Amino acid sequence: MKQKIVDLVESTKAKIDKAISAKELTDLKVEVLGKSGELTLILRGLKDLPEADRPIMGKVVNEARVALEKAIGSKIGELERKELNEKLMSERIDITIDNKRELGKIHPLNAIKRKAINFFVSMGFIVTDSPEIETTYYNFDMLNIPFDHPAREMQDTFFVTDKIILRTQTSSGQVRTMEKVKPPIKMISPGRVFRSDEADATHTPCFHQLEGLVVDKGITMCDLKGMLASFAKHFFSENSSVRFRPSHFPFTEPSVEVDASCPHCGGKGCNVCKGTGWIEILGAGMVNRRVLSGCGIDPDVYTGFAFGVGLDRITAICHGINDARVPFEGDIRFLKQF
Ligand code: PHE
Repeated sequence: MKQKIVDLVESTKAKIDKAISAKELTDLKVEVLGKSGELTLILRGLKDLPEADRPIMGKVVNEARVALEKAIGSKIGELERKELNEKLMSERIDITIDNKRELGKIHPLNAIKRKAINFFVSMGFIVTDSPEIETTYYNFDMLNIPFDHPAREMQDTFFVTDKIILRTQTSSGQVRTMEKVKPPIKMISPGRVFRSDEADATHTPCFHQLEGLVVDKGITMCDLKGMLASFAKHFFSENSSVRFRPSHFPFTEPSVEVDASCPHCGGKGCNVCKGTGWIEILGAGMVNRRVLSGCGIDPDVYTGFAFGVGLDRITAICHGINDARVPFEGDIRFLKQF
């Protein structure tokens, strides 16, 4: 009888090892340990043994039962854990990662704007902000732009009311700064400006400028030229240079248009610079005495220069963009190139 029990334990353990589902094991449990299971039948057969053998065999049967119950129980636990894990893995939703979504990038115009800001900040300029919805007082009157100046006409400026407009230039920020801060002043003011232009390859009704203003004792045009020369070198190349052409702005006197040597051909002449070797990048000049005194700064004591860089233009030059409308369209095929 003992051999029979040992064989039963062996064969049951082998079945336990082979089992691949919890169901198989519960069936096996009934088959061996259930009411009419094989081990139960052996237990019942004990009564036919000689009296003296019964306790010994009883102990063997009991030990076999405990061992098998334990083996079945732990294998069931193992399989259930495995099944649960498989289920969890197959139903897994990872809410933290959506790797189909592409990360955005900095728009080329903003990259240029940041580069320009960093350049001027490294030279000690402070960065100021100024409203996009502006009064004619700051955009025109205080900048010495007379009431009958053509820039004030409806076809050039977006009017909200007859005294409130969308600023046509960041130069309004010069006045706002000089009203608040007294010299020495060294500030830049980057931002959007608006003009009532039909969009075409060279015009957009909204574009970007970066205004610069330096006011102190003894500031001259040499300071302006030296600073703009290093600006051109920083943006284009070590060999870049700038040239001044006489111009007119009501708020600067004298006024200049500033050209940089063409970064594409190095000044030899190409289709980007239309064969001239130069590209216009900004307007500038010495702050008009009337603007200084209008802001309560004595023009006999202080002088200053101001400039307004066209950021869209610099971006177009740096990247060879030949249509001013494209950077505003948000077309992913354009943006992906940067
Ligand atoms: N505000 C001028 C423009 O929009 C540029 C400028 C700025 C000129 C500062 C002189 C000084 O064209």
